[in-house]
Amino acid sequence: MTNTKPFGALRPLTNDDARQLLDWRNSDHVRKFMVNQDLIEWEGHQKWVAKVVSMPDDYRYYIYEVEGTPTGMIGFYGFDENRNAEWGLYIGDENAPKGSGESMCRLALDKFFNELHGESLETFALADNARAIKLYQKLGFQTIDKGEKNHHYLKITRAEWQQ
Ligand SMILES: CC(C)(COP(=O)(O)OP(=O)(O)OC[C@H]1O[C@@H](n2cnc3c(N)ncnc32)[C@H](O)[C@@H]1OP(=O)(O)O)[C@@H](O)C(=O)NCCC(=O)NCCS
Repeated sequence: MTNTKPFGALRPLTNDDARQLLDWRNSDHVRKFMVNQDLIEWEGHQKWVAKVVSMPDDYRYYIYEVEGTPTGMIGFYGFDENRNAEWGLYIGDENAPKGSGESMCRLALDKFFNELHGESLETFALADNARAIKLYQKLGFQTIDKGEKNHHYLKITRAEWQQ
């Protein structure tokens, strides 16, 4: 297991990304790893994107691009008064190069701790999503036991990220 040197870049999500995002979110390879596995409707999705881009104190969402091609989405939400937050993410492009997920996460963690002044980040994956859990552990997240067997919760603090 070697750490990927991050490639690609993050840029802020805009309303113009809404269609692309919905296509990714509704694709089988993403949907089956989400808590809500229903197909998402365009109207509600568009409203959600509009809300996210208009509330930067509450939501920070980014499109991950590799050589100018939109490849994935990563976003922070649930900020509390101590700058603890959560994130959600996926690589939407099925032809994304290996290492894309790790690169996107490393760029986003750097942004979270250094630009957004985050203190800790919590996330979870469905318990059978081995790919995501392995990736999060590789990034330095520690498992936290919330006594829920279907969801695997993990957390990374500023100090753990800087190690
Ligand atoms: C989870 C996800 C972001 C990983 O991105 P990716 O581009 O496939 O992963 P990478 O190529 O960057 O691999 C990084 C690490 O992830 C883990 N990983 C990737 N593919 C894996 C697989 N098939 N099995 C187990 N672990 C895997 C490994 O730890 C890997 O590092 P290594 O190759 O040094 O062992 C991506 O697969 C995805 O978007 N999945 C669907 C949505 C999702 O699960 N979102 C997150 C949870 S809600």
